[in-house]
Amino acid sequence: MPRILITGASSGIGAALARHYAVAGTSLVLVGRNADRLEAEAQVCRARGAAVETAALDTRDRDAVRALVHATDAAGPLDLVVVNAAVNGGNQRGEVETEETAFETGDINYTGSLNVMLPALSLMLARGRGQIALMSSLAAYAPLPDAPAYSGAKAALVAHGLALRQKVGPRGVRISVVTPGYVKTPMGGELKGWRPLEVSAEQAAAVIARGLAKNRDVIAFPFALAALARTVLLLPESVRRVGLYAFRFQRRKRR
Ligand SMILES: NC(=O)c1ccc[n+]([C@@H]2O[C@H](COP(=O)([O-])OP(=O)(O)OC[C@H]3O[C@@H](n4cnc5c(N)ncnc54)[C@H](OP(=O)(O)O)[C@@H]3O)[C@@H](O)[C@H]2O)c1
Repeated sequence: MPRILITGASSGIGAALARHYAVAGTSLVLVGRNADRLEAEAQVCRARGAAVETAALDTRDRDAVRALVHATDAAGPLDLVVVNAAVNGGNQRGEVETEETAFETGDINYTGSLNVMLPALSLMLARGRGQIALMSSLAAYAPLPDAPAYSGAKAALVAHGLALRQKVGPRGVRISVVTPGYVKTPMGGELKGWRPLEVSAEQAAAVIARGLAKNRDVIAFPFALAALARTVLLLPESVRRVGLYAFRFQRRKRR
């Protein structure tokens, strides 16, 4: 029975992934802060035949997360852990992100992700088997001026995940980094204006699951936007900024 833990499963991409994997014979552990929304998603997944447990907690609580990962794994070894919970942070009104928002974003999106990933990794290394998906963003390659801490945390996840992948792959643990473009979710909706090549959460979940089944190092989509974001990162900053101004102009026009 595949056993899968997903953080941020009460909404958006995490919920869509939970539904994607929710078939008879799968055991899901859904994690988020909002117990009601989590339970609503759990009901949907149970109706599809999966066995579902929920855990309402904040991924910043390192001890609680560690205890959850260990207890869950002891009850049945985890095959896949999707480290997905995050907030957008930033400032969409054009002002500089506040210190408080930046720290909160870093704490949830990077440290909170490590709180989930590292205990799972230790357990998987000990038995020489398992898979971890780290949810980053194309913002890791094309940093968003309105969300600097978000962009920084997502870039850190790419670096951390890919560095670990090389080290732990030969020991039986597969790590993939996921870098979506625009996805239609509550968080995606916080970005007002033009969202080129936006996909639904269900489409995103299908692409992610396909990439994980193939053990891709980076699961980047949509292809055109991912290729652009990764190429632009190689350009001199002065050239990249011209493109960024053009992009922001389009975004404002379409607000
Ligand atoms: N949407 C996009 O366009 C897009 C693009 C690129 C990457 N991503 C990434 O995809 C992932 C999912 O985003 P989404 O768009 O699906 O966002 P979303 O709909 O806002 O969902 C975020 C999820 O994270 C959970 N969460 C947030 N902070 C948490 C915390 N401290 N502890 C536990 N759970 C927490 C939320 O649950 P509670 O509110 O119940 O805590 C919710 O289930 C994120 O890593 C995001 O950065 C999204």
